[in-house]
Amino acid sequence: MEIIVEDSAEAAGETGSRAVIDALASRPDPVLGLATGSSPEHLYASLARASAEARFDPRRVTAFALDEYLGLDPAHPQSYRSVVDREVTRPLGLDPARVHVLDGGARNADAECRAYERAIQAAGGVDIQILGIGANGHIGFNEPGSSFQSRTRRQRLDERTRRDNARFFGGRIEDVPQECLTQGIGTIREARQIVLVASGAGKAEAVSAMIQGPVGEHCPATALRSHPSVLVLLDREAASQVR
Ligand code: F6R
Repeated sequence: MEIIVEDSAEAAGETGSRAVIDALASRPDPVLGLATGSSPEHLYASLARASAEARFDPRRVTAFALDEYLGLDPAHPQSYRSVVDREVTRPLGLDPARVHVLDGGARNADAECRAYERAIQAAGGVDIQILGIGANGHIGFNEPGSSFQSRTRRQRLDERTRRDNARFFGGRIEDVPQECLTQGIGTIREARQIVLVASGAGKAEAVSAMIQGPVGEHCPATALRSHPSVLVLLDREAASQVR
């Protein structure tokens, strides 16, 4: 695990976008793994600038989002399908036909998850996966207690996660779905490279647990410690409990 502490979240995003550009540049069929939420905002903004300045070629990139709320209409502005369209696909200039998001409206959630695993395999696997980290140590929506071998599946969201994400639903926790579909920890760990971005004091405890706490299912992000290529990009607040 390589850990870089930057002066600001913007600088961390800039460094993250350079890692993504480098990882994808040499690949004939580049595959990018997408996180949603606040953490990668600066990384995506920086990639969008690189795309506009022709320092990043988005045309051949295939992308897979990590997770999606279950039972939320894909057209809902806070579905990850909508968020990815708005914050990633359009600003970066990705081909929408190559951007995959789990279908939170699927009638058969298990079949949807199996098909997603097959699609990732068929694309050749993920070259570089962008991750955030939940305040409870989750990656994707793999909540504490998730097996490190888990695959893409249906999950119940922790109360803590629903509270944290209520800000995207007008502050109304009752509007945050109870369940989701998420790539598993085993799925995420198959990405050839991982770049995890965290900023703000609210992430300090989870970041500390990920980097220097005991490895175990109580903190899903500790599964990354045995991955051969993980870059952790922090601002000073997120790094404040790292010794
Ligand atoms: C989102 C995801 C989550 C978030 C995490 C942090 O696709 O997989 O693991 O990365 O909940 O969320 P933010 O960045 O909003 O603090």
